[in-house]
Amino acid sequence: MKRMLSGIKPTGQLHLGNYIGALRHFVEYQDEYEMFAFIANLHCITVPQDPKELQQNLRDCVALYLACGLDPDRANIFLQTDVRAHAQLGYIMCCHTYMGELNRMTQFKDKMAHGEKNLSGGLYTYPSLMAADILLYDPDYVPVGEDQKQHVELTRDLAIRMNNRYGELFHVPEPLVAKVGARIMSLSDPSKKMSKSDETNKGCIYLLDDLKAARKKVMSAVTDNCAKVHFDPENQPGISNLMQILSSLSDERPMADIEAEFEGRGYGDFKRSVADAVCAKLEDIQNRYNEVLSSGAIDRALEKGAQRASVLADEKLAKVQKAIGMEIITK
Ligand code: AMP
Ligand code: TRP
Repeated sequence: MKRMLSGIKPTGQLHLGNYIGALRHFVEYQDEYEMFAFIANLHCITVPQDPKELQQNLRDCVALYLACGLDPDRANIFLQTDVRAHAQLGYIMCCHTYMGELNRMTQFKDKMAHGEKNLSGGLYTYPSLMAADILLYDPDYVPVGEDQKQHVELTRDLAIRMNNRYGELFHVPEPLVAKVGARIMSLSDPSKKMSKSDETNKGCIYLLDDLKAARKKVMSAVTDNCAKVHFDPENQPGISNLMQILSSLSDERPMADIEAEFEGRGYGDFKRSVADAVCAKLEDIQNRYNEVLSSGAIDRALEKGAQRASVLADEKLAKVQKAIGMEIITK
């Protein structure tokens, strides 16, 4: 069975972009692949966090993994810090990454360009840790949204570099970016991606948003004056974004199909359909989220996931340390 691995960094509440771009694929793939889905809590602290809020977000993230349909009997769900090898291999990967490579990472460059002050060293070296997260498990595929593709590509370069230097250590993984929904845009500014760092709170739909609030966000989404439901991300970014959301939430319904349904009808009608689809999905997720929270399933899932993940990760770390010449006693 081929293996797949991905993670989410819950620095805030999970949103519809996370669901459409990442989480729903984890669920889809869990039967076909051996799935490792982890919560990247080391990555979370690359930016300042309030400890209470962080803990709540982590708990919610696991609960939402389960509520969205990840099944701990089929997928390995775990917290990054519960498998210590992540931090250890992360350091080793960092020592094999060039500063020039880290300087080219767009996520970091964007933050620098925004003039953000006091960025941490952890944020800068984050792609090396992400490479370790992946390479510890030799996955075949890494399903991610568009914004993470560059990091997976760096992971491939690092794997190849280390294999050349020390002998075959890592399987070289491939990023898996879906055709539709890999980059859901903000509802209030369709030139930016939907993100938890949305200051206005109007452009981002959180999975735990109150349904009325979510509906309002869709109904007030920025569109255009073309008066035509047509898929054209360049000239009609707002409408195309809503179409991507609708398509992703209705079994990848073809864009032509959606265009045909709304031909000659106003944007109000179209937005109502999108809002209905979004609210139905949120309601379903939230009902299951409440069940999960009261069931003790979170702790059980994490314990089981970490146990299984640790076996593979410890083995890989020992192999790498030995190949580099860092070990004295053979374990
Ligand atoms: P993050 O919230 O940055 O940890 O992202 C977790 C996963 O969700 C990654 O695979 C991202 O690529 C994906 N993701 C985040 N924001 C979006 C978005 N607006 N559209 C699609 N995928 C996204
Ligand atoms: N960097 C990813 C994000 O911000 C989260 C992440 C950390 C990840 N490690 C990973 C994703 C390994 C895939 C594989 O979304």
